[in-house]
Formats: sequence, C-alpha cells, structure tokens
Amino acid sequence: MANYPRIVVRPPGPKAREIIERDERVISQSFVRYYPLVIDSGKGAVLRDVDGNEYIDFNSGLVCLNVGHCHPKVVEAVKRQADRYLHYSITDFLYREVVDLAEQLSKITPGKHPKKVFFGNSGAEAIEGAAKLARWHMRRQRFIAFISAFHGRTLGSVSFTASKPVQMRYFFPLVPGVTHVPYPYCYRCPFHLTYPECEYWCVDFIDEYVLQKYVPPEEVAAFVFEPIQGEGGYVVPPDGYFQRLKKLADKYGILMVDDEVQAGMARTGKWWAIEHWSVEPDIICSAKSIAAGLPLSAIVASEKIMDWEAGTHASTFGGNPVSCAAALAVIDIVKSEKLLENATQQGAYIVKRMKESMEESEIIGDIRGKGLMIGVEIVEDKDSKKVAAEKANEIMMRCWRRGVALITCGKSTLRIAPPLVITRDLADSALGVITSTIKEVENEK
Ligand SMILES: Cc1ncc(COP(=O)(O)O)c(C=O)c1O
Repeated sequence: MANYPRIVVRPPGPKAREIIERDERVISQSFVRYYPLVIDSGKGAVLRDVDGNEYIDFNSGLVCLNVGHCHPKVVEAVKRQADRYLHYSITDFLYREVVDLAEQLSKITPGKHPKKVFFGNSGAEAIEGAAKLARWHMRRQRFIAFISAFHGRTLGSVSFTASKPVQMRYFFPLVPGVTHVPYPYCYRCPFHLTYPECEYWCVDFIDEYVLQKYVPPEEVAAFVFEPIQGEGGYVVPPDGYFQRLKKLADKYGILMVDDEVQAGMARTGKWWAIEHWSVEPDIICSAKSIAAGLPLSAIVASEKIMDWEAGTHASTFGGNPVSCAAALAVIDIVKSEKLLENATQQGAYIVKRMKESMEESEIIGDIRGKGLMIGVEIVEDKDSKKVAAEKANEIMMRCWRRGVALITCGKSTLRIAPPLVITRDLADSALGVITSTIKEVENEK
C-alpha cells in the first residue's frame, strides 16, 4: 500500500497561514485559488506543503507536471544548461537547444511534412501567435471558436475564451472577428439532442446558421478549438466529431488551430489529444507540460503555413534555453519511461474504478476522459442532471484536507489529472479518498 497521503496538521497549517496572510497583502488577488495549498516541495506525484503534509497530486500543478515534480532527468538538464548560459534571445541570435527541440516537436506532431516552430512563454502567447499566423498566412480576418473554451487571459487570447463571464467583464472591447459556436458536450447537448442520432448537428449548425448566414466563410482564417475542453469541464467530443469539423474546414479552406495547451504532451495517452481522432490540424499550440513546469510554449505548423516574413512576430524570452533543456528531457522521459502507455493504463483503471462508484451513486452524473485527463461530473441527481457546484466544491475541499489535491472545472466537474508517472498504488490510495468523500457528501443531502 502507498504511504501517501500523510496529513500531519489540518491544512492550512500555521506556516501556510502565515504565507496566506502575506500573499493577501502583496499579490494580485485576481486569481481563483481553489484552496489555500502552500507548497514546499514535490517529488513524482506527491507534493508536500510548508507544514509537512504530503498529498497525492491529482492536479500536476496546473496540468504542467506530466513527468511529475522534479524529475531527476529534468533537474539535471536544467542544472547543466544553467551552468552554461541562461539567455541569448533567438529573436536576434541562434543556439542549438531551441533547434534540437524544434526538430523533436516536428517528429512527434501529426504529419510527416516539413514543419516550423515558434516558441513563446505561455499558452496565451501561443494562441495569440497562432491567431496572428493564421491571419497572416490566410489573409483572412475572422475565426470560429467554441462556447466554454478557455484559451488564455491576454486581450488576444481571451477573445477566444468563452468560459465564464468574470473572465470577460469590463474587458470589452476584445479582438474583433471571433464568433463562438456550441462545443459538442454530449452529456449536456446545447441543442438537447442525443448522440449519435443527432448526426453531428453541431457541425452542420456552424455551416447552415453561421457560415451561410452571417460570417462569410471566405473571411474565416481558422477554427480555434481544444481537442478536449479543459477549464470548460473536461468535455470529450464524440468519435467522428473532429473528422466532420475538418470536412467543413476543408469545404471553405479554413485552417484547424488545435489548442493542446492542456490536453497535449502525452496527457491523454497520445502525444496530442487530436490523434485520438486521426485528424491532422494545421497549427498546434502547446505549453503547460511541455517543459515540466518551466515557462515555454510552442506553435507548430507546416513550413508552408509558417511563412511569415522577418519582423512579423517575436518574443524576447520565447524558447529560453533552460526551458528548452527541460522540454528535451520531458520528451526523452515520456519515451523512455513509456508514459503514453502508463497514462492509458492508469487512466483506464481510474475510469473503471470511478464507474464502479458511479453505479452506486446518485450524484456522479458522468465520467469522461482520455488517458489521464478525466472529468467526473457531479450532479444533484442523475435524472435531473442538475449542476451541483456546491457539492463538487465540498468534495474538492474535503479531498484536499484528506491529502488528495484535485480541483474542479466547468460548473461541477472534478478534474483528475495526476502526473503521468502515477503508480497504481498511489492511484488506488487517491481513489479511496475521492470515492469515500463523494459518498460522504452524497449521504449528507
Ligand atoms: C487549453 C488552454 N489554452 C490556453 C491556456 C492558457 O495558458 P497560459 O495560462 O499558460 O497562458 C490554458 C490555461 O489553462 C488552457 O487550458
């Protein structure tokens, strides 16, 4: 049996409380802190807070630690690079690490054609860059994005986001030209239809009611989409959806911009989540887990599409050599430790265990996911499917206090996203806490 979790003082303990107070005084309070976890250190899939509590990490930071906390190979690569040089902007000069990484990314992204890579620092920056690239290459101004999407917080990227009003309020006007359409959320179909009888009406709707009515398709540069919606609730489109969307894109010569910031870099048991549906996107955006927690993002596109001229786009710190060294180590670890396989196996096991719990539960409405990107939607009862945000929140808080760090997404979905190095023992231990906590909250109704 796993020795974790180990709670020695009810969190937040005294040392955490001291930092929380100081944080409130000097740190922007614009964040959503799900609970006041003050981290001290981490190893693999276990993290320790400043009071000595040890948690099983089902968050992977914010889905940035696919290879786990402080993997020795990442730490070694970072130290080695830090000893040599920390910065020399590729916007003006050259270095090997960034080229090595671009070559590796070209190999592991869909499509055998020659590709080019643009490096930035964050997911939002990747989305902004991809949007600029799509406009530049296509000489078209508009985009189609999706309701409940999350693509970032900068003015450009938040224009593609459509997840929560608080993310948008008072920030208008945003970048014009983005039209949002319904995402295929089959558990709560926006059209109140049922898959597969719906015959992908959500795709035909875009054609018949958007492109043929008021958004001229020849002005649309790209569909910008998450292959699995992350912040929107770990929503997995049904099989066949992306093939259908790609067909629509091809009909009008529209590009497919695939935001793999959360779902990518092996999380779902494939390098890129879109590979589950065998669709080749035109532009892929990656960030979060790409450099094991260091800031880095990448836009990967065919050399035909990434044809912008000198001076069109750049970022001083993009492709930082220390981040690149970490990212090269990540790719090596995913391969050598067979993390695609582990994500698939542990993910299937977690889904199986959660489905067993679901059979005896009235408040587990839906379980969905690929690999280790799993959503457990909490509802008031299975018949009404009424959103149960308070219950989901209560489950999350109690799990944290009992030593399993997980957060919610969407309105009431528990987000299960442990590092891909998670062992069966640790998964079992965490699932014990999660399933018993769900039962406890359910019995209190
Ligand atoms: C799918 C997706 N795209 C983009 C972003 C924005 O990334 P960042 O916070 O690094 O700007 C996020 C962040 O959660 C995300 O989940």
